[in-house]
Amino acid sequence: MDKLVIKGGKPLRGEIAISGAKNAALPIIVASLLTSDWNTYYNVPKLRDIFTIKRLLENLGVEFEEGDGLRVNASRLKGYMAPYDLVRTMRASILVLGPLIARLGRAKVSLPGGCAIGARPIDLHLKGLAQMGAKISLDQGYIEARANCLKGADIYLDIPTVTGTENLMMAATLAKGITVIKNAAREPEVEALANMLNRCGAKIEGAGTDTIFIEGKNGLSGTEFRIIPDRIEAGTYMIAAGITGGEVIIKDCCLNHMQAIVDKLRDAGLIIEERGRKVFVKATSIHSTDVTTLPYPGFPTDMQAQFMALMCLGDGVSVITERIFENRFMHVLELKRMGADIKIDGSSAVVRGVSCLKGAPVMASDLRASASLVLAGLAARGVTEVYRVYHLDRGYEKIEVKLRALGAEIERVPA
Ligand code: UD1
Repeated sequence: MDKLVIKGGKPLRGEIAISGAKNAALPIIVASLLTSDWNTYYNVPKLRDIFTIKRLLENLGVEFEEGDGLRVNASRLKGYMAPYDLVRTMRASILVLGPLIARLGRAKVSLPGGCAIGARPIDLHLKGLAQMGAKISLDQGYIEARANCLKGADIYLDIPTVTGTENLMMAATLAKGITVIKNAAREPEVEALANMLNRCGAKIEGAGTDTIFIEGKNGLSGTEFRIIPDRIEAGTYMIAAGITGGEVIIKDCCLNHMQAIVDKLRDAGLIIEERGRKVFVKATSIHSTDVTTLPYPGFPTDMQAQFMALMCLGDGVSVITERIFENRFMHVLELKRMGADIKIDGSSAVVRGVSCLKGAPVMASDLRASASLVLAGLAARGVTEVYRVYHLDRGYEKIEVKLRALGAEIERVPA
């Protein structure tokens, strides 16, 4: 198991390119299950989660070819089961449920179970599929779903779940009749998936708003599609510039998808300017700012831990409230080991800025928590060792290579 060793205190300078969005690539690759034609995807990030979804799909008979883009073909499916050992490493595996029922009339998917950031149930996925006519049962930790023919339904989601919306939208593309998803997730990744499906011949309207209409078709064809930039990776590198007092130019990011992030980072003292197709980021001082995570277009929960690292060095007190997941403050204890002053009060963390953080050995607990520890390490005095780097590899492509290109002293070594 590797660790990252960071010698902190160097302002980052230079230019960096953002990779394709993990959370867009995952459902889009899975959506290949809905057609027997070849699909080609460009800008697919090289991440552990992408490798996991490929293994899961290969298990079902899906073929992959790597070239200029990632080519995917699901014409010869040989199974309908997603086993526990794959699903437990990545909850997004649940995305195969809707497409498998729609294409094969049958799916058997391991229940994801709990995870480091809370209970994260999938009841809304199952309720929606049941409304579309799927018979669902739970047996020995597996969800078994069957439907000879899914039918369109009027679905209201109690919570605008992201993968839930995606699962139901994918299933509805091959259902009989019209499906309406109300209180749908509005994330750009949901919209990207809808755009990809429409290019395959689906009829989806309203993706990106809270009501999505899907007219089911008899079949879909293949397409080519470019994965949108990763707004969370872009936000993380903006904070890397800010927390080290550096100046970074970010290429290949989409500020339109990042309004809440950019607004909060500007409130926190970062200068963020769009210059042509690039974004210039600089910080001279860090202002303590409150933030509450919310579904899109609100401030994303996937940026909460990184924002907290920045607030550790703020000029006052910041209250960070987590409204999406319970138990998503696993990074707090580790940040405190680096000298941060943070108190948890229910779903809020009260962060009092300190004049400096000090390097320490720290343990990554989930993907975004790990990113916050790397950010803290970049700003800290002395050496920080971040253990359990495999969490970072799930969602950040070559993080140490990208940071080194900006002048960071960071190395991956066997732990
Ligand atoms: C997705 C993202 C993840 C991000 C999260 C919230 C992917 C692959 N993952 O995860 O990075 O942190 O959105 O933006 O896109 N809930 C229920 N019942 C359900 C489904 C969800 O109660 O059936 C609750 C969850 O417990 C949570 C909230 O809804 O409190 C939001 O979860 P959800 O949007 O489903 O997260 P994911 O889709 O798993």
